[in-house]
Amino acid sequence: MEESVIRNAGSDTELKYQLKLQDLESQVLDLKVKNDEILRENAQLKRENNQLKRMPLFVAVVVDLLDRGEVYLRQQGNNQEYLTHVNDEIFRQLKPGTKVAVNNALSIVKIVGNIFDSRVRVMELDESPEITFDQVGGLAKEIEEVREAVEYPLTKPEIYERVGVEPPKGILLYGSPGTGKTLIAKAVAHQARATFIRMSGSELVHKYIGEGAQLVRELFSLAREKSPSIVFIDEIDAVGSTRTNDGTSGSAEVQRTLMQLLAEMDGFDTRGDVRIMAATNRVDMLDPALLRPGRFDRVISIPLPTAEGRKEILKIHSARMVLGKDVDLGAIVEMTENATGADLQAICREAGMMAVRREARTLSHDDFVRAVRKVRAEVSTDLRMYT
Ligand SMILES: Nc1ncnc2c1ncn2[C@@H]1O[C@H](COP(=O)(O)OP(=O)(O)OP(=O)(O)O)[C@@H](O)[C@H]1O
Ligand SMILES: [Mg+2]
Repeated sequence: MEESVIRNAGSDTELKYQLKLQDLESQVLDLKVKNDEILRENAQLKRENNQLKRMPLFVAVVVDLLDRGEVYLRQQGNNQEYLTHVNDEIFRQLKPGTKVAVNNALSIVKIVGNIFDSRVRVMELDESPEITFDQVGGLAKEIEEVREAVEYPLTKPEIYERVGVEPPKGILLYGSPGTGKTLIAKAVAHQARATFIRMSGSELVHKYIGEGAQLVRELFSLAREKSPSIVFIDEIDAVGSTRTNDGTSGSAEVQRTLMQLLAEMDGFDTRGDVRIMAATNRVDMLDPALLRPGRFDRVISIPLPTAEGRKEILKIHSARMVLGKDVDLGAIVEMTENATGADLQAICREAGMMAVRREARTLSHDDFVRAVRKVRAEVSTDLRMYT
């Protein structure tokens, strides 16, 4: 004992260092404790944060970015709008149109994506359709009418300006199913080098319940963004038939969608580089509001093909097939009065299948005759009959 005291005291500096070491060790302990506390707190916050993220979140769309990290949001579905604050990290990633998830307290929890992703899911967007007018049989007069109303205002607007004529605002194609309405719309978009944006009226109403009006708004803003463009609303009767006014809540929803469509059309400049087309099988059922001047003010009927048209269509759809010498398309034309373009396409396809089944090198006339019978039997079950 004595010895060790002496030894320890033997060096003053050693003692000093020892004390210092003790001091440091106690500081380390202190920090360890503090660190532990912080880690625990951090874990707790992480848990709470996860909890918040796990709670059902609402989806909203950024309308605008304001100063100092404030964001103007619109909730999808109910269209409620509000302001919220976000941190810099998130703020930097936002722009108008970004989709975000917000929690109960309306703070942005995460970024879901860009709204265009969802729009493109709903709408068929084709930057430049491959269909050309060569692929449309017959309908020369109708095609010319469509070109005048849709294509030339996009490609040669000066002609309209020079003459002082306003091109029609909306073009409505009507005719039986399978007569080539969609085909013409795509071909005109191809010819005008315009983006083709198709939206189905019945999907709008039945599949995206509660979102119809919003989607119509988005359809038109997408069209402006992708211009020159052609908006094609297929089966427009689903949105704008006279029946939609029967006072039920479903019809109120459809009515809102229709109102939005009319509002979008009214706010449109006919000489802009967005053209609006629609198609229907039943023009008689359409709400007259849609047909008023400044809306779908050019109605073009797409009839069943004439004999000459049928021949052209058969040629188009058999162009890549090897036909035997005995094939007489003229005779097939006579057997297919009242057939649509889609029926004739089906006939060519069936005739090809018959030849494949026979393992033949070429299609025979008999393949076509049997194909006509087969397709006619299928068609007559859906109440359309042709000779
Ligand atoms: N005039 C035509 N010339 C060539 N092919 C045609 C013609 N009409 C229709 N077809 C063929 O039938 C298919 C269906 O036509 P399309 O989709 O254009 O019909 P639609 O009139 O839009 O019918 P729906 O009213 O059912 O939408 C086309 O892909 C095409 O192959
Ligand atoms: Mg169609």
